[in-house]
Amino acid sequence: MSITINKNYYYINSKELSLIIEEREGDLLLRHLGRKITNYHGSNAINERDHAFSGQLNPDVRTYSYDTQRQVLGLHGLGDFRQPSLKIQHGVSDVTRFEFLKAEVVKGISLESKLPYPHSLEKAETLIFTLVDKVADLELKLYYTVVEDNNTIVTYSEVINNSNQAVVIHRALSAMADVPTRDYDVVTLQGAYAREKTVRRQRVEQGIFKVASNRGASGHAQTPALILCDHEASEGAGEALAFQLMYSGNFQTFVQKSQINEVRVAIGIEDENFTWELASNESFETPVALITYSHQGLTGVSQESQAFVTDYIIPKQFAHEERPILLNNWEATYFDFEKEKLLELAEDAKQVGVELFVLDDGWFGNRFDDNRALGDWFVNEEKLGGPLQDLIEKVHAKGLKFGLWFEPEMISVDSDLYRTHPDWAIQVPNYGHTYSRNQLVLNLANPDVVTYLKDVLDKILTDNAIDYVKWDYNRNMTNIGNGANYLESQMQSHQYMLGLYDLVEFLTSKHENILFESCSGGGGRNDLGMMRYFPQVWASDNTDAIARLPIQYGSSYLYPTISMGAHVSAVPNHQMERTTPLETRGDVAMMGNLGYELDLTSLTQEEKDIIAGQIAHYKDIRPVVQFGQQYRLINPEAGSNEAAVQFNYENKVLATYVRVLSTVETVETTLKLKNLDQDANYMLQGTDQVYSGAELMYAGITVVLPQGDFLSKQFYFVKVD
Ligand code: GLA
Repeated sequence: MSITINKNYYYINSKELSLIIEEREGDLLLRHLGRKITNYHGSNAINERDHAFSGQLNPDVRTYSYDTQRQVLGLHGLGDFRQPSLKIQHGVSDVTRFEFLKAEVVKGISLESKLPYPHSLEKAETLIFTLVDKVADLELKLYYTVVEDNNTIVTYSEVINNSNQAVVIHRALSAMADVPTRDYDVVTLQGAYAREKTVRRQRVEQGIFKVASNRGASGHAQTPALILCDHEASEGAGEALAFQLMYSGNFQTFVQKSQINEVRVAIGIEDENFTWELASNESFETPVALITYSHQGLTGVSQESQAFVTDYIIPKQFAHEERPILLNNWEATYFDFEKEKLLELAEDAKQVGVELFVLDDGWFGNRFDDNRALGDWFVNEEKLGGPLQDLIEKVHAKGLKFGLWFEPEMISVDSDLYRTHPDWAIQVPNYGHTYSRNQLVLNLANPDVVTYLKDVLDKILTDNAIDYVKWDYNRNMTNIGNGANYLESQMQSHQYMLGLYDLVEFLTSKHENILFESCSGGGGRNDLGMMRYFPQVWASDNTDAIARLPIQYGSSYLYPTISMGAHVSAVPNHQMERTTPLETRGDVAMMGNLGYELDLTSLTQEEKDIIAGQIAHYKDIRPVVQFGQQYRLINPEAGSNEAAVQFNYENKVLATYVRVLSTVETVETTLKLKNLDQDANYMLQGTDQVYSGAELMYAGITVVLPQGDFLSKQFYFVKVD
């Protein structure tokens, strides 16, 4: 049994994780969140001293205060002076006191949400706490779902308004936990456009460390997640807890070290641009959060998260399917293409072994540059030399699949759609627009817009044999103000997300064999909300192999490799102007879902032969990369001169090493591989050299490279006995 109840104690157990909650006089106290305990006796119930200047609700018990108890719910205004997880305005106040009413355990996940939530949870168990605020006549439900094969808790909450008047939610976070005083680090994945998912690790100090987005999207600059770990935690050892939000809009996540050095950690929707009017008899569900635990360091928590995302979040039909090797025409042609050029590219792609040809931006309406035509989702037949389906048939005839780019959530002022529906853009009355890439965002909070997009996109996907869709989103939201009043406008950002999920749920379930890739100028919306519908992400517009190392490395902290597109592009690189050997570009892209994004027709035969060799080799190692267990061997973060990553899958092991700059006396690096069978023998492919597992793990393999910058080497081993 995963969930057990013993009197007023609630035990939520998964493989190696326990969450223990005590119900005490109506409050839910967090007794333990961490390594599994099956014989708990209430040993760590502490903090029962009279802390001055902390609020007490019972004058007879001066030792009990919300300010010092460890909780799963942070109530506002009742003496807990830390950050609340909930703030609801009713009547003249925003004070609420939710008290325990009942708890029940149900099979599966009890959720019929318009928000994304994990699938395949039929065998899971869910503990539901119901709490009530008798004054405001509000009900609060807290949900905790666990599976037995992963150290992840799925959690969210629901506010139900039983009163006969509307209330206003100002904050409703998805998960909160108070953990004991320890020396913690917090790890976040931050960055910028073309520099996504940089790993930032810092000590948790007194005060608040918060990462948030108010962009209307999760954004390039931050990821809706944080990892709280022991200060001493390393890749392989120490405790770590990852908090993630399955949401693609505004979010916040913070750690707060309190006056008594305990740490509150929470994640949910960001307050800025959020309030929610909850009418009588209505309910509000928070986005789903995941709490993942490991006592085996950062690699442990990454592997748990990667497994959970693969098994329970990525759409089932793609989660364990090898991804096609693609050629995308964007960096090959930008907007400058016509049919012949596309077919030449497709022909060369076929020759080198590519499996999917993707036509990027510029195929529709009057879209000759990025200043116009977003919203005009009708094929520019002049440019494509006829109907889209004719082009697709020609591509299919070469034995290639066909993919197409869309950016459905946007509208250009210079578009037929804008000329017809100028009010469909997100805007504040009487203020001018704010532009970004010269485009505006459609108001998906308006159901008419969602219905329109469903019809238009469904028609293109139905009328044409499209195998893959790249779904882009190339600006963030400003000028939020389409509501009839302030409150309505404050609801718009979250309503937008509900509209977006409705749209993508409709399209992806109706066209379930189409592989969707999520993109937002690269990784501007690389989050679990999108991944629930779109099995892979274009991790960055930065296609430079060296710049890509930390992006891919950071992505691996939480997301499986199979979710990450990685392309070989031309040199000098279009973003960095750097020239990297084709071999290294290939080795780096082969650490993700390999693709190419360059003008194959302009390459020499020798280069094409190298690419054909890479593709043939990738077809061999693809399951290792896409389904294997990943180990980060060398961190490529700023200042580092090297990177190395290992994948283990069945009897195969792949380790890739990249050296950024060489030095006068180039130091030879020895890679100690992880988690091999120490008594087995492994043959290095391409040689007849055999190594024992023990040798590879404990003595390691030395990388010998010639002098030179941006060089790399792959070591591919197959177990021989
Ligand atoms: C964004 C994407 C690119 C490309 C362009 C097309 O920048 O990230 O990959 O699709 O849009 O305009």
